[in-house]
Amino acid sequence: MAAVTRGSFGLFRLLLSHQYRRRCFRPQALVRSMQPLVSRCDRSLQMLGSRALHVSVARPGPIVQFKLSDIGEGIMEVTVKEWYVKEGDRVSQFDSICEVQSDKASVTITSRYDGVIRRLYYDVDATALVGKPLVDIETESSSDVIQEEDVVETPAMAREEHTHQEIKGHKTQATPSVRRLAIENNIKLSEVVGTGKDGRILKEDILNFLAKQTGAILPPAPPPPPPAAAARPVGTPAPLKPAPAPPKPVFTGKDVTEPLKGFHKAMVRTMTAALKIPHFGYCDEVDLSRLVSLRTELRSKVEGRGVKLSFLPFFIKAASLGLLHFPILNASLDEGCQNITYKASHNIGVAMDTSQGLLVPVVKNVQMLSVLDVAVELNRLQALGASGQLGTNELSGGTFTLSNIGSIGGTYAKPVILPPEVAIGALGKIQVLPRFDEEGQVVRAHIMNVSWSADHRIIDGATMCRFSNLWREYLENPASMLLDLK
Ligand code: COA
Repeated sequence: MAAVTRGSFGLFRLLLSHQYRRRCFRPQALVRSMQPLVSRCDRSLQMLGSRALHVSVARPGPIVQFKLSDIGEGIMEVTVKEWYVKEGDRVSQFDSICEVQSDKASVTITSRYDGVIRRLYYDVDATALVGKPLVDIETESSSDVIQEEDVVETPAMAREEHTHQEIKGHKTQATPSVRRLAIENNIKLSEVVGTGKDGRILKEDILNFLAKQTGAILPPAPPPPPPAAAARPVGTPAPLKPAPAPPKPVFTGKDVTEPLKGFHKAMVRTMTAALKIPHFGYCDEVDLSRLVSLRTELRSKVEGRGVKLSFLPFFIKAASLGLLHFPILNASLDEGCQNITYKASHNIGVAMDTSQGLLVPVVKNVQMLSVLDVAVELNRLQALGASGQLGTNELSGGTFTLSNIGSIGGTYAKPVILPPEVAIGALGKIQVLPRFDEEGQVVRAHIMNVSWSADHRIIDGATMCRFSNLWREYLENPASMLLDLK
């Protein structure tokens, strides 16, 4: 009621000052003429006020311990990368609270409640455990959710939150960060097909949508591509990845011990498991001279379609064609070493040097993709990797891996198998070297070395060698790939 009265006086004062400015100020007449209006305003403000008070004034409610959700894939702990809130901040449902990073992906955790943040349980870089409290939120008891639902959070309830947006009569679901991404890129969510749970729109759906429309790569933009190969004479080696500035030397004068986190922790786990596999190594060299010419020819056409064509799509497709003949290399061995599973899909992992360190996103179902399809998917994965947005979906399900370490440098490597896979190939840098042709003449050749590692419990040297020969033949005579393309 007090607010209502204050409101009426405020209106009255406003009218008075307005009249005064117009130099027709006759207070008594004005008061008389305003009386009916004021009492009408009072009545409507009373009605409005009582409704508004009922709806929007927040009373302090219970303090909810907001627990870290189960983010799937058996992830039990994450590293807190960034807080978007501090103690005392007011949050609404779906506001971003923090960014956490598991060994598989980065996830934005959003609020389920309206309220005030009362406690943050972790510092940045600390390890947060799934199912344990992340923040305390003093809820507002007027919040619909709080009134309707039990405030005791369970991991399943706290699963990465999403919002519902009504657009053109149907509901779209997306996290606030995804909606922001869509808005920034002028994309209507209603036009994007969501591939997440229950049709939820994921960041990668937006990126896919953009890539399909424009071939665009989202910010933060990856470094500009080196000069087009078309501008280079055939026979000149492709420039290697521009070397990043070397890290500044740090002299601390004392030993520093810090806990392993996020992807590093995952690397420890995976590589420790990999050590149990008896690795068989096999190396060869491949003459890529024809492929270098072919790529130069195709590159500008493909770029006209908004896609960057590197050598990797050919390496990946040739591997898939080879796996059709040697399915044992696209298999896995169970833990008790009793059964081999031959995988139907050729999900080829690609070791990627990303802003978050080494990650292995997967190009899925390569057996069904053209070289161009593989290039498109690689472009997408590289864009996601460059912006730290590779998710669980991209990082899981691999059945065979290639590591193009040669794009940074080096000739031979000793790649380590990623369990439960059974084989991996490392590609060295393409070098222009003298070689003899069939007539015994010395010619310039584009030579690349390949280093394979295979699980020697189920793969023998001869099988690895035959697969490598077939892969090499496809790449040395790229036209032969045409014969086997579906
Ligand atoms: N030798 C010489 N040049 C190579 C090359 C090789 N083996 N592989 C690629 N290049 C060239 C490319 O053709 C491109 O030149 P271009 O612009 O003239 O086409 C340039 O190097 C940069 O290629 P890039 O953008 O890196 O594309 P890519 O498809 O060849 O490779 C990745 C993509 C993601 C694999 C690569 O960027 C990467 O991260 N490599 C490192 C992998 C790694 O760290 N492995 C170690 C695991 S322990």
